[in-house]
Amino acid sequence: MILPSAAIQAPRPWPINGAAICRCYRLAVFDLSSPYQEPGFGIWKRRLKSLSVSEIRVREAKPTAEDGRWMRWMQADGESTYIHSVEYNVLKIEQQLVLVAEIADDPVGFCNALVGRTKSDPLFIQLVAVVPSARRRGVGLALLSAAAAREPLRDIAMATLDDNLAARSLNERFAKSIGGEIRSVPPRRYRRTDLGFANGESHHAWVVERSRETLIGI
Ligand SMILES: CC(C)(COP(=O)(O)OP(=O)(O)OC[C@H]1O[C@@H](n2cnc3c(N)ncnc32)[C@H](O)[C@@H]1OP(=O)(O)O)[C@@H](O)C(=O)NCCC(=O)NCCS
Repeated sequence: MILPSAAIQAPRPWPINGAAICRCYRLAVFDLSSPYQEPGFGIWKRRLKSLSVSEIRVREAKPTAEDGRWMRWMQADGESTYIHSVEYNVLKIEQQLVLVAEIADDPVGFCNALVGRTKSDPLFIQLVAVVPSARRRGVGLALLSAAAAREPLRDIAMATLDDNLAARSLNERFAKSIGGEIRSVPPRRYRRTDLGFANGESHHAWVVERSRETLIGI
């Protein structure tokens, strides 16, 4: 098979590190061109190497090519998510709640979440991803907290692969931070697609239940 030259030049194949992939889109559109060669990618990567200790800012993504591209670059820089086309990311931003975390104006992480259909359904966190050089600074927690704050009356559901200890530990830390309780959820309680998993991907589902006192107080 003849590979497109961009794919040959890419520093690593993708989808990347199957063991660490926590979720994927059923209708994923993979873009086989290489993001590593795109203008500006290298400059952003160099800035990430010397990130300041500035405050983390979380904002809603805009359905623009610019934010679609930032997501693509963050997907490319992380080792555990698929790299999508700009167009696909823009579509996700239109359809879901997508939040972007920035440090000193540089995007360093994102989260996409799906609001449950009915009032009693949770907010489904489909993915939270932080670029490696910005990890363990509170970015993942800031993204989850910001997503949860947008749906204060809903519990929060998410799924992890069994070996993703960072994700499990982040979820536990997040549950504690909102005074909630994290519980394992039986298979089939939620649709795979709500959790952002494709058929055949094994996962473990969780729900963070908000404290009922908090809900009554709202
Ligand atoms: C999981 C992930 C989002 C965490 O992001 P992060 O910004 O590093 O997380 P935070 O700095 O907010 O961490 C908050 C808490 O989570 C826990 N945690 C995060 N990463 C951890 C790790 N590698 N090992 C153990 N605990 C971890 C810790 O309790 C941490 O608090 P502490 O740093 O004070 O000890 C990040 O590692 C990542 O992008 N991984 C790849 C994508 C992925 O697996 N996403 C999750 C499934 S959807």
